[in-house]
Amino acid sequence: MNILRTKEAVKSALQNISGPQRTVGFVPTMGALHEGHLALVEKAKESSDVVFVSIFVNPTQFNNPDDFAKYPNTLDKDLDLLKNTGVDYLFIPDIQEIYPEKPMLSIDFGDLERVLEGAFRPGHFNGVGIVVSKLLNIVKPHKAFFGQKDLQQVAVIKRLVADLSFDVEIVVVPTVREEDGLALSSRNLRLSPTERQSALILFKALSFAKDELLAGEPWLDVREKIDELIMTQIGVSLEYFELVRSDNMKILDKLEKNIPVSICTAAYVGEVRLIDNIAVID
Ligand code: PAJ
Repeated sequence: MNILRTKEAVKSALQNISGPQRTVGFVPTMGALHEGHLALVEKAKESSDVVFVSIFVNPTQFNNPDDFAKYPNTLDKDLDLLKNTGVDYLFIPDIQEIYPEKPMLSIDFGDLERVLEGAFRPGHFNGVGIVVSKLLNIVKPHKAFFGQKDLQQVAVIKRLVADLSFDVEIVVVPTVREEDGLALSSRNLRLSPTERQSALILFKALSFAKDELLAGEPWLDVREKIDELIMTQIGVSLEYFELVRSDNMKILDKLEKNIPVSICTAAYVGEVRLIDNIAVID
């Protein structure tokens, strides 16, 4: 695995590997890698000739400076985890390399970002849109891989790629979970053992709500039961728990047939903000 720290270094690497048959797969990350990230890498390996991973904790997508300051940095462990995965190039730029100047451009994803993460983290998707655009322009991949864990991010990136005609295929990889259901997340590192236990309520609530909906319970009734369920968990406070169209995040108040539907949630467990989602109809 070659480590590249500059855009110039990525450019020369690309000159060595370019050729019509050589597909480049790209997995952008913010580090603190876990099996969820590795699932994206594996998928990229399966379907591309050359795999790039990036690690860059992008300051512009953190609406909360404290969250940015506390974002885990485990670079040595990350390098170890990537060692035997067959990744060809790891791009680890510093902030100056990506942001020599503060961008003047800002991206507004319209209705897509007025709900869920966009509503609770103002400016977050502007930062994601800017950094993903920069990274796609630097790495120029044929395919880029994103996790279903961040469902709204997937919708935003698909729109970014469509609206700005990026020549890249977006591949979505299912959420990787611990055996007990907790979705893997870099932020889990910040949970105490007790909080880690409390955090299980998120996937339990999502699974329960899905089963109830599919059994014909009206969404509003399900939603009330969820509030009661979450209230039993000390230290967990719900930000949102919404039924949405999986492709455009439009909030629904009942189960619609023949369209992809998911339930998305965000909650604080202690001081750590976690998100998760479950597909109800694929
Ligand atoms: P990060 O949170 O590091 O996630 C990198 C990628 O891994 C994202 O596509 C995310 O959805 C995926 N991922 C995280 N946890 C996962 C899990 N349990 N199962 C499957 N995939 C999972 O998302 C970002 O970074 C940033 O916003 C980024 C796209 C890199 C832009 O800065």
